[in-house]
Amino acid sequence: MEYKVGLIRGDGIGPEIVEQAVKILDVVAKKYDAVFSYEEILLGGASIDATGEPLTEENLAKARSCDAVLMGSIGGNTSTSPWYKLPPKLRPEAGLLKIRKELGLFANLRPAYLFDELRKACPLRDEIIGDGFDMMIMRELTGGLYFGERKTYEENGIMKAVDTLTYGEDEIRRIAVRGFDIARKRKKKVTSVDKANVLDSSRLWRKVVEEVAKDYPDVSYEHMLVDNAAMQLVHDPGQFDVILTENMFGDILSDEASMVTGSIGMLSSASLREDTFGLYEPSHGSAPDIAGQDIANPIATILSASMMLRYSFNMDDAADDIDGAVKKVLEDGYRTVDIMSEGMEQVGTTRMGDLISERL
Ligand code: IPM
Ligand code: MG
Repeated sequence: MEYKVGLIRGDGIGPEIVEQAVKILDVVAKKYDAVFSYEEILLGGASIDATGEPLTEENLAKARSCDAVLMGSIGGNTSTSPWYKLPPKLRPEAGLLKIRKELGLFANLRPAYLFDELRKACPLRDEIIGDGFDMMIMRELTGGLYFGERKTYEENGIMKAVDTLTYGEDEIRRIAVRGFDIARKRKKKVTSVDKANVLDSSRLWRKVVEEVAKDYPDVSYEHMLVDNAAMQLVHDPGQFDVILTENMFGDILSDEASMVTGSIGMLSSASLREDTFGLYEPSHGSAPDIAGQDIANPIATILSASMMLRYSFNMDDAADDIDGAVKKVLEDGYRTVDIMSEGMEQVGTTRMGDLISERL
């Protein structure tokens, strides 16, 4: 099979980690008799520097023409980078929001699990970790506060700002269906997170989730208020399977969940729509402070490439192969600095990529 893969190398550590994922894809192509052709796409700070905009129509069209897009990370240091002196619509993040919205990528899957080998990196106490945890955060990605109307204005000499949180039942239904579908392939439990004790949008969310749940009698579900969910994530993370939530809550809870695993440099993500197209990226940011030093952990991006093979190219065997090679490298005692512990061998970005390729 032949696939066209868009590559957004991005900013900060983006280019070096994407390079390692491409290395892995090249090995997979040979081993599984697939052909990957690459299309370079500019987004974020790199695009601002080259074109003055965080995502041009030309680059958006390139992304549309691909079967899937693999992204490193975008953005810079918000207090020192000149990109953040630009109006909000021209900053790196605006490009990311634009590609999500324009390509209709409404379902954001953020797995957060504890690698057995990295138990020591987990900031939680042993009795809280218990048998470990493995959850999938399903974040709605193209609605809510991120895309509602907003304005800043002056009234009677006082500055005011307003952001609106709107959800249509159709938007809630499609992400809920996706969440229940995924739960069915996992531990069959959905925790729908909202703020229904305060927000109308959350009350509608709850109603629609209950309707969808009727079609999945084999999947258990519960509702949880977002403040409680934030607390439960550090109190008893093992209780969660699929966490289904709206855009802003998902942004916040997914950072918390990834930190709880102690290895944010290991976590991948996928942004999907109804067909097989997807945008795949590590859950972590662009870490401009360590860019270009060959110390960043490429594993989250490599596991994102694995998700791409699984969800967009239907290449489950190759995806299992990559996941297994990552596990093997950890078993063999190799660590990048972010997950380093006593007795292990510390390696850099490129070497980690090589070690994983050798195990495929
Ligand atoms: C994320 C990021 C983005 C978001 C930012 C960079 C706009 O935090 O992907 O979680 O808030 O969605
Ligand atoms: Mg975020």
